[in-house]
Amino acid sequence: MADTNPVNEPDFAGQLEAWRVRMEAALAARLPAADAVPARLHEAMRYSVLGGGKRIRPALLFATARTLGLPEDRVEAAACAIELIHVYSLVHDDLPAMDDDDLRRGRPTCHKAYDEATAILVGDALQPLAIDLLVRDPALPDAAAVRLRLIGLLCEASGSLGMVGGQAIDLAVEGTRLDIAQVEDLHARKTGALIRASVLMAAECAPGLEPAHREALARFAAAIGLAFQIQDDLLDVLGDTATLGKAAGADREHAKPTHPAIIGIEESQRRVRLLHDEALESLRPFGDHAAPLRSLANWLLSRRY
Ligand code: IPE
Ligand code: IPE
Ligand code: MG
Ligand code: MG
Ligand code: MG
Repeated sequence: MADTNPVNEPDFAGQLEAWRVRMEAALAARLPAADAVPARLHEAMRYSVLGGGKRIRPALLFATARTLGLPEDRVEAAACAIELIHVYSLVHDDLPAMDDDDLRRGRPTCHKAYDEATAILVGDALQPLAIDLLVRDPALPDAAAVRLRLIGLLCEASGSLGMVGGQAIDLAVEGTRLDIAQVEDLHARKTGALIRASVLMAAECAPGLEPAHREALARFAAAIGLAFQIQDDLLDVLGDTATLGKAAGADREHAKPTHPAIIGIEESQRRVRLLHDEALESLRPFGDHAAPLRSLANWLLSRRY
């Protein structure tokens, strides 16, 4: 079994909070002003992006940067780009045509606070904004080749072979029976792809990274990404709406084929622990340098929301 740092490290919770605060300012500065025309759209974009969320994908970029000895500033714009795509995916995920949810991050979902057309447009607008950051943001490495590879990683992860494809499958399989391999393939797409891109985009900003190290990071991200969605599905069963900031029990209502529904709670928790061990094992080549990623993995293992 891989070496396990103690779970719930108090210092790391503080680090995560510092990254969250940093992201709030970084995103607020990069979104159009709420009174820019069309004001209702920009207000809804700011409503959806700001003021909530764990910012786990940005934390993965920052922790990967630290592991690789890169200043965090170098990956801030890429962290914003990933978070914007993630928020767009949530805004659309909550629409009546998809999961039909009223609560997100402890507040009314975008289509409830505004209206469905606005929520669709918020998602539409967040996508080009994310790409534009990778094209233009002065905080990123200057090299055009690096920017192009970042754009490629983000597009690949969010498109029909990644997150959007996963969402399409997720909706198509409601009410059906899947085996665990099929569910894990779905998770790798709908959730794993953006988590993998978070780690690999940070790696892309590190000049001269050895291919073996990149591969190790990709294995880490694959394990973490899958574990993350299984935990999301466990929390849907075990969590409460107030703590989650979104409706508990929604997966069952939609007859989603999830790990807890197929193999039960204990087996699902066991799968998460195995994936966590696998993730830590993947970090072995980085030795002590990977402490930030290890701590983040440990924090994720014990998350309650
Ligand atoms: C929720 O993601 C959707 C999934 C991919 C499981 P998060 O749990 O990261 O949501 P926020 O960003 O913290 O709200
Ligand atoms: C959402 O998965 C994944 C994406 C938005 C890509 P879920 O539908 O399980 O996420 P929650 O539970 O609504 O946050
Ligand atoms: Mg969904
Ligand atoms: Mg949902
Ligand atoms: Mg869920």
